[in-house]
Amino acid sequence: MDGHPQSSAGEPSPTDDVEPMDRSRTLAPLANLSRQARDPPIVVRHLDHWFGQGEARKQALFDVNLTLERGKLTVLLGASGSGKTTLLTLMGCLRRVQEGSVTLLGTELAGAPESVLVACRRRLGFIFQAHNLHESLTAMQNVRMGLEVHGREATMAWREASAHLLTLLGLGERLDYRPANLSGGQKQRVAVARALVGNPEIIFADEPTAALDKDSALQVVRLLKGLGAERGTTTLMVTHDTKIMDLADRIVTLEEGQVVSDSRM
Ligand SMILES: Nc1ncnc2c1ncn2[C@@H]1O[C@H](COP(=O)(O)OP(=O)(O)O)[C@@H](O)[C@H]1O
Ligand SMILES: [Mg+2]
Repeated sequence: MDGHPQSSAGEPSPTDDVEPMDRSRTLAPLANLSRQARDPPIVVRHLDHWFGQGEARKQALFDVNLTLERGKLTVLLGASGSGKTTLLTLMGCLRRVQEGSVTLLGTELAGAPESVLVACRRRLGFIFQAHNLHESLTAMQNVRMGLEVHGREATMAWREASAHLLTLLGLGERLDYRPANLSGGQKQRVAVARALVGNPEIIFADEPTAALDKDSALQVVRLLKGLGAERGTTTLMVTHDTKIMDLADRIVTLEEGQVVSDSRM
């Protein structure tokens, strides 16, 4: 009876051969992933910014230093003209870094070519005051545009993802409504769903709740906080709403282009 196990002594078994290779293949990317997860999503160092030329040249940001933590909701506060939007658009690759450094998801934005900025932008979600929905498209179709902006193919799953987000935002009954038949607050919530459908790693929101009633505003912010906890999505939000500030993990205040306070809740 030939009862010998196949991997007899002296003969390398197939597993002996394969294991070290597999380990090197799987552990390297894992180590890489955990490093990325631990790295802060945004690091801003000595950032200055100017607008205008010659006599009209005016400095809007002065030596801003800021590191955002993954999965956290940071609120950016400051009077009108203090530089909030300038800072947000620099971090969001919507404006070129002039002086200093912005490292976004491990990529230095200062001096980066346009192709790199475009690739970075695809990993971000933007929620601005002006919702810019397409009037001819339904709520669902507008949300789908969020996937196309991210350069992702709208697979069959887009319907499920879009409907899920719109329902979470209280628009489950209005999936097929066009903007003309939605209130200002409802349109803004469609824009929020559009920003989130591509599963961005960082969300920049510039007064996203200005057009929303109190309940809808809280709904939006709770959704963003939930994404932070579940997916590690990082949010930086400009708001003056004290109810939202209560939900923030951190509040950073700008005054005349400088960070004047930074408190963790
Ligand atoms: N496109 C621009 N051209 C010239 N000046 C600008 C421009 N955008 C912003 N500024 C100036 O930069 C400063 C900061 O503006 P901004 O970042 O929009 O502030 P905030 O969002 O806090 O209201 C202000 O003095 C503003 O006038
Ligand atoms: Mg602004």
